[in-house]
Amino acid sequence: MSLALKPAVVLERSTPMSGAVELVVHHPPAAAALRPGQFFQLAVAAPQTILRRPYSAAWADPDSGRIGFIFNVVGAGSGWLAVRHEGHELDLLGPLGRGFDLDGSKPAIIVAGGLGVAVFPGVVGALVARGRQVTVLLGARTSAQLLPSGRFPGAEVMTATDDGTAGYQGSVVDLMPVALGRFPPPQGEGRGGGPEIFACGPTPMLQALLEKSRRLGVPLGLIQVSLETPMGCGVGTCLGCAIARPGGGYLLTCLDGPCVRADRIDWSRTADAFHG
Ligand SMILES: Cc1cc2nc3c(=O)[nH]c(=O)nc-3n(C[C@H](O)[C@H](O)[C@H](O)COP(=O)(O)OP(=O)(O)OC[C@H]3O[C@@H](n4cnc5c(N)ncnc54)[C@H](O)[C@@H]3O)c2cc1C
Ligand code: FES
Repeated sequence: MSLALKPAVVLERSTPMSGAVELVVHHPPAAAALRPGQFFQLAVAAPQTILRRPYSAAWADPDSGRIGFIFNVVGAGSGWLAVRHEGHELDLLGPLGRGFDLDGSKPAIIVAGGLGVAVFPGVVGALVARGRQVTVLLGARTSAQLLPSGRFPGAEVMTATDDGTAGYQGSVVDLMPVALGRFPPPQGEGRGGGPEIFACGPTPMLQALLEKSRRLGVPLGLIQVSLETPMGCGVGTCLGCAIARPGGGYLLTCLDGPCVRADRIDWSRTADAFHG
């Protein structure tokens, strides 16, 4: 872990898709230390906020020292971040937690729902750089909220929208059989055969993905998820990010995650903290 003590400097602010903001910051030590899927605790100076806010790095470039964050505005902290612009300083703590396990050579299927896509530009870039075949399944309410497929060079991109304005009309999870159908089937339990799946999105989407995967015979051990459990400290002291393990006990999302294999979580005891 690298604790980034000097503030980052904002280089660019843009709108990569409707309703979202992308901040590009300069912090060479943090950019060099980042593993795809890790997150930072960003200090926010909005009135009446105490805690830092956790954000996955969307991507990082160690050569230029740049890191990108993609986020939407849901409250005071993200509202404050959304009006940072070139020249502002940003206090980052991190990179924190565990990123995705990108080792191996299996084809990869990325499943991203809504702002869950924010963690994937760097992950897909790293998978493609390792020579892995990558299919990205992107889901959003409407076409304007899809991150452009050009952000995933070297990968095949399939889209789903709730209103049918781009790609398949319906849930991104419904694209799984099409994507999986291109590969030999998984071989029983464990991690043999079939592609590996990387997912991020609202908890109900992840639960639907796991249910669909069970029906399609994909072992949970072949699925890695990036969790967005609400966090307090981000460094393992407040226990606010606990998530149930099968057989009892808990993982801490900030230390054991946010990227974990789906078979390490008791999904029947995992609630959606944000979407009712
Ligand atoms: C490891 C990790 C990585 C994350 N990466 C990203 C990212 O890359 N991009 C991104 O946009 N968000 C990301 N999030 C979520 C982000 O941390 C929260 O959206 C943020 O903390 C909200 O802060 P706020 O002060 O704006 O809202 P708050 O004032 O804390 O909350 C305002 C309202 O929004 C709701 N809310 C808070 N978080 C979410 C959420 N994630 N989804 C829906 N509703 C929410 C709250 O329940 C509340 O009703 C990540 C979370 C974690 C744990
Ligand atoms: S956020 Fe405090 S222990 Fe994980």
